[in-house]
Amino acid sequence: MCGIVGYTGKREAKEILIKGLKNLEYRGYDSAGIAVLDKNRLKVIKRKGKIKNLEELVSKTSFSGSSGIAHTRWATHGVPSDKNAHPHLGCKKRIAVVHNGIIENFESLKKDLLKKGCKFSSDTDTEIISHLIERNYHQNLEEAVRKTVLLLKGSFSLAVISKDEPGKLVGVRLDSPLIVGIKDEEKFLASDSSAFIEDTRRVVYLKDREIAVLTPDSVKVIDFQGRKVSFKEELLSFSKEEVKKGVFKHFMLKEILEQPKVLEKILSYYLKEKDFNLKELTAFRDFFKKLQKINIVACGTAYHAGLVGKYLMEKFLNIPVEVDLGSEFRYKQPTIRKGDLLIAISQSGETADTLAGVRLAKKRGAKILSICNVLGSTLVRESDKVLYTLAGPEISVASTKAYSAQIMVLVILSLYLAKLRRTLPDSLINSYLNLLRKIPSCQLKIVKSKDEIRKIAQKYLNFGAFLYLGRNINYPTALEGALKLKEISYIPAEGYPAGEMKHGPIALIDEYRAVVCIANNSSVYSKMLSNVEEIFARRGRIIILATEEDEQVKKYSRQIIYIPKIKEELSPLITIIPLQLLAYYIAELKGYDVDKPRNLAKSVTVE
Ligand code: G6P
Repeated sequence: MCGIVGYTGKREAKEILIKGLKNLEYRGYDSAGIAVLDKNRLKVIKRKGKIKNLEELVSKTSFSGSSGIAHTRWATHGVPSDKNAHPHLGCKKRIAVVHNGIIENFESLKKDLLKKGCKFSSDTDTEIISHLIERNYHQNLEEAVRKTVLLLKGSFSLAVISKDEPGKLVGVRLDSPLIVGIKDEEKFLASDSSAFIEDTRRVVYLKDREIAVLTPDSVKVIDFQGRKVSFKEELLSFSKEEVKKGVFKHFMLKEILEQPKVLEKILSYYLKEKDFNLKELTAFRDFFKKLQKINIVACGTAYHAGLVGKYLMEKFLNIPVEVDLGSEFRYKQPTIRKGDLLIAISQSGETADTLAGVRLAKKRGAKILSICNVLGSTLVRESDKVLYTLAGPEISVASTKAYSAQIMVLVILSLYLAKLRRTLPDSLINSYLNLLRKIPSCQLKIVKSKDEIRKIAQKYLNFGAFLYLGRNINYPTALEGALKLKEISYIPAEGYPAGEMKHGPIALIDEYRAVVCIANNSSVYSKMLSNVEEIFARRGRIIILATEEDEQVKKYSRQIIYIPKIKEELSPLITIIPLQLLAYYIAELKGYDVDKPRNLAKSVTVE
């Protein structure tokens, strides 16, 4: 949520900052701004709306400088507007600050500053930070920043520059990501390394309560007590091509189509020819054998992957699995305790509610295994063990490839645990593993029929509401299909377990209602078909997902999306693909900004 970029070096800062912001725009896009030290003054330009608005204004304004900070905003305090956009300045305009996070005690700090005569020009919580730093400033920027952060409560990452110390860039991290990028005589700061990947892959992941002090030629890291701390330089594992749209109209389509490749990568990483390759988990083998129960915590799409994980683990391991949304888990009375396992699933590894769940479980003595896509993320650092989803950077706000990657990792993990705990015969585990290897080609087959799905999207474009129905392990698929549609097309869509229709939702059905039915071959196929029959009888407009060669379903609709035959337990890896494509094409045909849907941000780093 919100994206920060900072630069100090020899080149024109504004160009590097704007380029960085564009790569971070998925983090927030209601307004944006930059501050560059232009000779002896801080030149600040801010604009409501997408980054292209800011870019236009910057290109029309004459200024120049080789250090600066920039921000793309997702509003928390104060409406999206030019004045609330970051950077914010102090009264004397000597300090500029950009901020990601929330300052919980900003009201009392603001009251105090007002009493002292400070004049505020925005409604944000952030502005108090620039005033405080300016007041604490005595010719040493890092010291002024350090004194200020000790006064703040909440979560924040900051980038700060001062007109009195040209070339110096200070960054702070507390519960919000901030990464340093290193290139010979240039240094970068960013919420996500994709901001500077085109310039460097050398990074330092700051830890909580660390302050980075950067000049073109140096990197220093201190803690909140002012003590120098050592840091580790690492090399990013992805390339700059992966954050480019290439020939695609939207990142979302690119990412949907990348799924077969991602799954192949996961299979070759976590499986050997006839066995598992999970060295990461060796030290946990005894712990896994004794498990009585598993908890899963996640948010959004990752939560739906967690629900699939529950079906898999309960079936393969025969132990109870509880799945909670991070935002609920953290405030209920969770039963988790010492000896339990918490699996945290997150694409970004920065989701505030998921992290809060992890911290709570840790406090209670549980072990944390995370399934995560981002190296160096907070979740990864706070977990006992990590299984990476290896999906590469996911840029589109609506998550697609991360979802099937999370499910693939969950399938492999469940089978691995079943082998360890001897809850499934080896022959069955091997047959699942062989089938898993076929999943990428099944996905590819569906992806190839994308034009057919686009035609269906065209026909259903103007329906005012959608219902998605599934059963058993494809009930989460119905939830995820509905989430995709509402996220990017703004059409009300609800996912429901088909068996619950009679307890309410069937009242919605008439000829104006679009109903997507997941009726692949499965243990609940005939039950699902009865539900389809009931919708058909009430003239609901049905789209059916069915297994190749199923003739029976033709009775209910001409809109049939056929998918390859696969064992029910593995089917969520396939059934979700047409639903992602359907949502994508509906939004694309409606002309929406698919990758940046209104009001959403990819990385929800505040509660
Ligand atoms: C946001 C994103 C979703 C994502 C959810 C959880 O809502 O828009 O796509 O599923 O956060 O994010 P995480 O990074 O923890 O998977």
